[in-house]
Amino acid sequence: MSQDPELAEEPEPVGFGRRRVLGLVAGGAATAGAGLGAGAAALVQNEQSPEPQRPGRAWETVRGTGPGQPGIAEAPPAHLRLLAFDLEPAAAKAALTAWTNLAAELAAGQADLGLAPAALTVTAGLGQSLFAKLGRPVPGQLTMPSFAGDRLEEQRGGGDVLLQVCAEDPMVVAFAAEKLRRVPGTRLRWQQSGFRPTAAASVNPAATARNLMGQLDGTANPAPGSGLFDSAVWAQPSGTTFLVYRRIRMLLGTWHDTPPAVRERVIGRRLTDGAPLTGKAESDPPELNRRDAGGEYVIAADAHIRLANPGVNRGARMLRRGYSYDDGPEDAGLVFLAFQADPRTAFVPVQERLAASDALNRFTVHTGSGVYLVPPASGTCVGAAVLGL
Ligand code: HEM
Repeated sequence: MSQDPELAEEPEPVGFGRRRVLGLVAGGAATAGAGLGAGAAALVQNEQSPEPQRPGRAWETVRGTGPGQPGIAEAPPAHLRLLAFDLEPAAAKAALTAWTNLAAELAAGQADLGLAPAALTVTAGLGQSLFAKLGRPVPGQLTMPSFAGDRLEEQRGGGDVLLQVCAEDPMVVAFAAEKLRRVPGTRLRWQQSGFRPTAAASVNPAATARNLMGQLDGTANPAPGSGLFDSAVWAQPSGTTFLVYRRIRMLLGTWHDTPPAVRERVIGRRLTDGAPLTGKAESDPPELNRRDAGGEYVIAADAHIRLANPGVNRGARMLRRGYSYDDGPEDAGLVFLAFQADPRTAFVPVQERLAASDALNRFTVHTGSGVYLVPPASGTCVGAAVLGL
């Protein structure tokens, strides 16, 4: 296999251990596997070119090596586009096949447009409306109750199919979205962009990324490759998982007008370094039972990390892989994305508890929602097995 030693020695980008493959691929029509040979040719050209050095991830082709789709266990790249579609039932199989092929082509790089792979992943999820439309039993995991305080907007949620497009380069995401949108028999229902800090702009690219409230967000996630991750994320058949999407507006004016000590109380962690209020370092486990001299909980009774903690939610765990969004004045916040084995025992009970009493609720409004079955990676037509296509 032609893997360039220089690329292989690139420092590991942000975060946790991932299953990924490095390689350069030329030619949009190549499948990811077949394209690695062609990549060697592209690499020679680039080695000879006087172009300035690019960060390693711009060159990566990402492929999941396990049964799950890419775009779940890998460290999230800097840019996100969610595309939700409604399908004509008769076109469902052709559309899912087209998206499967496009996902492999796009991951190989859009050489026709002069674009490197940029760590692009396309991850497809199936909504309950698609099962209903095709006369298939709707999996129980796809039923989402409404929660106290929800202010959901119809045009910002649901959809037969959700495509999660992630890449290090916004041009790569935009061109990919354009191609994915042109599949016949499909109608774009809504889309949402998001972003995270880039490695290039981070003082410490290995650090947990901050959200638009300035908090370190993602600290207590299960680590990919661990048993905890596997049991939290993967369902049967092997490689299946469920994605919960929430578009959460942050009331940033109110947040920034609130004194820092109160903001820290709301979450239960320090703003500067993400350490729990009972600890010294970000990685210290929160001590939920510790009380101060006055007998009050150090991590408040309504602090976000207390109410979301697996210990008070029957062990509920999920992989949060969210992005920030900024859609203009008074509309910025969190594109909450969480992968889990079963939302009925993870997102739903946690969100019920948060909706009832989270101190963070004063500063947030949930405006969009969706839950999708993310089928295993497929050679030819993603979701064909579970949809009986
Ligand atoms: C704008 C809304 C939200 C913000 C700003 C936010 C922010 C945070 C922050 C700063 C942490 C602590 C650091 C970390 O472990 O990542 C955290 C933890 C967590 N959040 Fe959120 N969160 C939001 C919404 C949600 C929602 C909707 C859920 C799920 C229903 C959720 C579930 C969790 C979980 C499970 C943890 C880890 C708790 C632990 O084990 O300590 N969060 N969140």
